[in-house]
Amino acid sequence: MDIFRFGWKYWKKYLPLDILVKLFSLIAILCDLLLPLLSAGIIDYVIAYDPSSPVDEGFIQFLFDGRLGAPASGELFLHLVLLFAGVFLVRIVLLYAKNVTFQWCGVSMECTLRAETYAKLLELDGETLSRYNVGELLTTMNRDTISFKELYSRMILNIFDSVIVIVLSVVTLTMLDWRLLFLPVAVAPFFTVALVRYLKQAKVLFKEIRESYSAINLTVQENIDAVRIVRSFAGEETEMHKFDRDNERVYALNKQEARLSAKYNSIFTLCQQVGYVGTVCVAFALVLSGSIALGALTAATTYVTKIISHIMQISRSFYMMQNQLVSGARLKKFLTEEGAIHDSRALRTAPQRPHFRFEDVSLTLGEKPVLKHITLDLPYGKKLGVMGGTGSGKSVLLKSLSRIYDVTAGDITLDGTDIREYSLEALRSEFAYVFQDVFLFSNTVDANIAFAHPDVPEEEVVRATQIAQADQFIGKLEAGYETVVGERGVGLSGGQKQRLSIARALIKGAPVLVLDDASSALDMATERRVLTSIKEHCPDSTLVIAAHRVSSVLDCDEIIYLRDGEIIERGTAEELIAKNGAFAAVYHLQTSDGQLDDSSYGRAEL
Ligand SMILES: Nc1ncnc2c1ncn2[C@@H]1O[C@H](COP(=O)(O)OP(=O)(O)OP(=O)(O)O)[C@@H](O)[C@H]1O
Ligand SMILES: [Mg+2]
Repeated sequence: MDIFRFGWKYWKKYLPLDILVKLFSLIAILCDLLLPLLSAGIIDYVIAYDPSSPVDEGFIQFLFDGRLGAPASGELFLHLVLLFAGVFLVRIVLLYAKNVTFQWCGVSMECTLRAETYAKLLELDGETLSRYNVGELLTTMNRDTISFKELYSRMILNIFDSVIVIVLSVVTLTMLDWRLLFLPVAVAPFFTVALVRYLKQAKVLFKEIRESYSAINLTVQENIDAVRIVRSFAGEETEMHKFDRDNERVYALNKQEARLSAKYNSIFTLCQQVGYVGTVCVAFALVLSGSIALGALTAATTYVTKIISHIMQISRSFYMMQNQLVSGARLKKFLTEEGAIHDSRALRTAPQRPHFRFEDVSLTLGEKPVLKHITLDLPYGKKLGVMGGTGSGKSVLLKSLSRIYDVTAGDITLDGTDIREYSLEALRSEFAYVFQDVFLFSNTVDANIAFAHPDVPEEEVVRATQIAQADQFIGKLEAGYETVVGERGVGLSGGQKQRLSIARALIKGAPVLVLDDASSALDMATERRVLTSIKEHCPDSTLVIAAHRVSSVLDCDEIIYLRDGEIIERGTAEELIAKNGAFAAVYHLQTSDGQLDDSSYGRAEL
């Protein structure tokens, strides 16, 4: 019921159109149900008219009182045929209008659901999102939105249509002769029991089928991302086996579903045939006994066929509904997901010259303490270097500044106010990040760089690439700034991608530039030029550099050295070298003869 209520939130805005669709449908059904009566009239009053025993055609008797022509005359036949064609035409037009309208409402709801799913994807923090795999998210975005909208646009309408047809056909049959209902009523309990069992089994199966598609999506997605890794490890065969296993599961489950449908469809068809043949026999006996006319026999069989086929339609609709409810449950779960990072509604404006401070900050991710008792002052303009072995907490520390992760103890303040009191938008406008794992969109070089400000003038883009030392290699690309880089920057070297992402961060023009291992793939001479150039062009900006290379942080106002999430050393490069601790050890390892050595820098921490 919860899932229906959840979907109703999206469907209710189409209610006026939905009512119109139901009205069209109702009139089209009335037209459809009138046709067998008109056919019966043509048989009884034109083709097989017997003046000695005129028959009663129930509520369309008025058509045969002579106004449309004398019985058995060509004139009555013509009028009845015209009436038949007219009713048929009205039905066709209404069905067209109904189909166009309900499909439009459905597609609109599907697009809204997809847009909200995408917006949620952008809103949720990384930790919450990591509970979903990519395959699952793609299935939710594509299959579930399509399937769930069908529940509202098509299934409920189908059930509505079927109920109306069944009720009206039963009423008409009762008016013709109540005994005609005998067999449909006798078969109904068997049908219902079979239907309930069918639906129960289908629900379980649909859930498994959906999961199997998610698994296949994940395998494909991962392999697209990691195609080079797979090839370099000659892992094609293993991956193919993995894919085959997932694919076979999809195959087996769909086969199971086909068997289930076939089994129950046979039972339903049996009920249908028993109901139909039995009713024809009853109707035949009634014609022979003179209780009903010959025309009524043909009408009655048509109505019984309709009743049975619509009962089948209801069973099919309930069956499909199981699938749609599984999709609805997935969508509801994702769209009502509460992120771990809560946005503040406070309208604090982001300061131009932000002053950040860490006060005894600790951060636990899952069960693991990742940052411990960090106290740090980061006034506007400070150049801070962050060093430490791999996994020591550098990236998490940098991300906690803009609340990509929220601290679990202590406070990070911005101009004296807890950063959680700023809206995420205001807070994040303070930063331009170059993340450790570079991501480029499959778009032109220019669009990638101008991501923060797509309308920025060309000269600004060129200037940013000059600072990032990227202008030369861009010039050598076949279409320069208009070269389309592949997904995630395929076609560029690691260092080229890093330089593009540095240029992208510079274009944002935020007061704090955060470089997380952003120059690790550059040779030392290029790295030096990039960093010197950044400092020259943005002399006032705050600069936070996390790195493994001492050369990246030597000029910083303060360097902190992390181990297991704790600051174990802090000071300027000279102070730390003099201290002869962990930083000095890395420094000596990366230099020879007191000179920084490009070839010997390592990631080791003593
Ligand atoms: N989302 C997460 N959930 C749980 N633990 C995490 C998460 N992200 C990072 N960690 C853990 O936090 C610790 C610090 O990670 P972090 O990425 O900050 O290291 P780092 O110093 O940047 O390392 P590197 O030099 O390799 O980039 C690691 O032990 C890591 O396993
Ligand atoms: Mg890192």
